[in-house]
Amino acid sequence: MTRHVSSELHWGLLGPGDLDRIVALHTQAIRGMCPDQVRPESPEFFAALLEGAGRIVGVCDPAGDLVAYGVLQDGPDPGTRPDLWLGWPEDARIQKLAGSSVAEAYRGLRLQRTLIRRRIELADPDAYLYATAAPSNPASWRSLLHEGFEIRRLRRVYQDSLRYLMARRARMADTSAAGGDASAARSLDELLLDEQDRLLSQGWRGRLLAQAGCVLVPPEGAGS
Ligand SMILES: CC(C)(COP(=O)(O)OP(=O)(O)OC[C@H]1O[C@@H](n2cnc3c(N)ncnc32)[C@H](O)[C@@H]1OP(=O)(O)O)[C@@H](O)C(=O)NCCC(=O)NCCS
Repeated sequence: MTRHVSSELHWGLLGPGDLDRIVALHTQAIRGMCPDQVRPESPEFFAALLEGAGRIVGVCDPAGDLVAYGVLQDGPDPGTRPDLWLGWPEDARIQKLAGSSVAEAYRGLRLQRTLIRRRIELADPDAYLYATAAPSNPASWRSLLHEGFEIRRLRRVYQDSLRYLMARRARMADTSAAGGDASAARSLDELLLDEQDRLLSQGWRGRLLAQAGCVLVPPEGAGS
């Protein structure tokens, strides 16, 4: 089997002419996954993004084939209100990391992490960024945690599918959202989703700590 190397890949913004190959990669990438793990997107969704509702970063192999993409959407999804749920200012500039796919043959290279970083660089520096990820899709939320997103809520969205609501500012004074008191942290693996939901609604935040892995940390100043 060919061993793929990320340094041979070409990164760039995609345009309207790329619609068909984005849809093909998306369809292939989510094959076998149910809507509870990942939301199937329509060609119209991607077409709107390519025509100005946001931007799509693409990754091509040396032959020019599209092997990964990541979507940056201007504004929130109609079905989600991160501003209300997280108490953001009324005039907050909101942008959403609205999905990414990596072709099977290129998985395991952490391409989604780089796609997240590239989209943060493209975002308005003052933006409030959010993304949603199913608890059952750890490849998605682990990458977001690595790049400074925090799990802030557990919500039913997109026709009743469970999602972590994850957020960060585009420009962070301290890029180590990975910080936190490991002694008070609770491991995500050991918490049922109901318990995670309860803690998140009390202000606990999901983070990836070097010494403890994926955890919920209590609100600053609160006891454990
Ligand atoms: C999500 C996706 C883009 C990630 O691709 P990728 O960048 O190649 O991801 P990797 O395989 O490098 O894994 C990223 C992280 O998830 C972890 N991971 C991957 N698969 C996992 C699994 N089944 N269970 C637990 N962790 C897993 C990896 O260990 C890695 O974490 P680490 O860096 O802390 O070790 C890819 O899996 C995909 O295209 N999935 C289908 C579409 C999708 O779900 N998109 C996201 C939601 S829109």
